[in-house]
Amino acid sequence: MGKKVTVVGAGFYGSTTAQRLAEYDIFETVVLTDIIDGKPAGLALDINQSRSIEGFETKVVGVSTGPNGEGYEAIEGSDVVVVTAGLPRKPGMSRMDLLEVNAKIVRQVAENIAKYAPNAVVIVVSNPVDEMTALAQLATQFPKNRVFGQAGVLDTARFTNFIAEELNVPVKSVKALTLGSHGDTMVPVPSRCTVDGKPLSELLPAEKIEELVVRTRNGGAEVVALLKTGSAYYAPSAAAARMAKAVAEDSGEVVPVCAWVDGEYGISGVYLGVEAELGATGIRKVVEDKLTDSELAGLKEAAEAVRAKQADVADL
Ligand code: APR
Repeated sequence: MGKKVTVVGAGFYGSTTAQRLAEYDIFETVVLTDIIDGKPAGLALDINQSRSIEGFETKVVGVSTGPNGEGYEAIEGSDVVVVTAGLPRKPGMSRMDLLEVNAKIVRQVAENIAKYAPNAVVIVVSNPVDEMTALAQLATQFPKNRVFGQAGVLDTARFTNFIAEELNVPVKSVKALTLGSHGDTMVPVPSRCTVDGKPLSELLPAEKIEELVVRTRNGGAEVVALLKTGSAYYAPSAAAARMAKAVAEDSGEVVPVCAWVDGEYGISGVYLGVEAELGATGIRKVVEDKLTDSELAGLKEAAEAVRAKQADVADL
């Protein structure tokens, strides 16, 4: 049987993720769900009508779900489920301001995933993502390797873009990395940033690198401030769709994700942005690499900040 992926939430993030997943043409079916009547079906119809132009055979199925899980049968047999349900930020809001409202949504979604797609790998993108990932694992009771969050692929892509623009080089010559949380304790890792193999520190002064780091950390807020309604979705959906593809293809790709950390870097018992190898089982393993002392200190600080918040989600 062909592969099946579900995207929960047919807003900007979810619909663009569904489109990207369909255009990869590696899935038999992309299921797109939302609580809004008709919206996912309309978007699915629209994406399917682009198949002959873009040249893909994947079928998108749009389903509206009810308050008691009505409609969730459609996700049965999904290999991967991407959770995008929840409110986005408004200008001036931090991701943490979404905690309570999105926790209710993500808990309900996760319970339905556990019921209808008990073998799926779950990728969470709803914000605040570090906390929503922890909550989705709690609510599904899935093994921790099967539930993880999207943040690092996006933050790294933002950092990469800023470096490429600053140096006026192709994005593909830039290698960058961010770890830590998807928020104030994001940890860009300049020691792992190179341009055509040359260390970034030899190409830009420290103050300039710091400026790009700060812009990366505020990358989402910068977009929100310009859009005024809603938050970013082109780069976020590219990140989530790539991760779902890595799982579906059992690729073994190593990417930064919000994964359960159990001893790596001397940190345990928390969902944190680290590099991990992705495959059909979800996180095959967390990959530990060399960090400078200050980067490691930043990662530990991030771990403690998200640990405190993740402890709270059990009650939400
Ligand atoms: N089940 C399914 N879908 C839901 C549920 C639910 N219980 N509750 C809300 N939704 C849907 C909304 O109806 C809406 O269509 O989630 C969608 C959210 O879409 P947008 O408002 O366009 O937000 P989007 O930009 O897609 O962001 C979604 O991703 O980046 C994060 O912070 C962002 O948490 C937000 C999420």
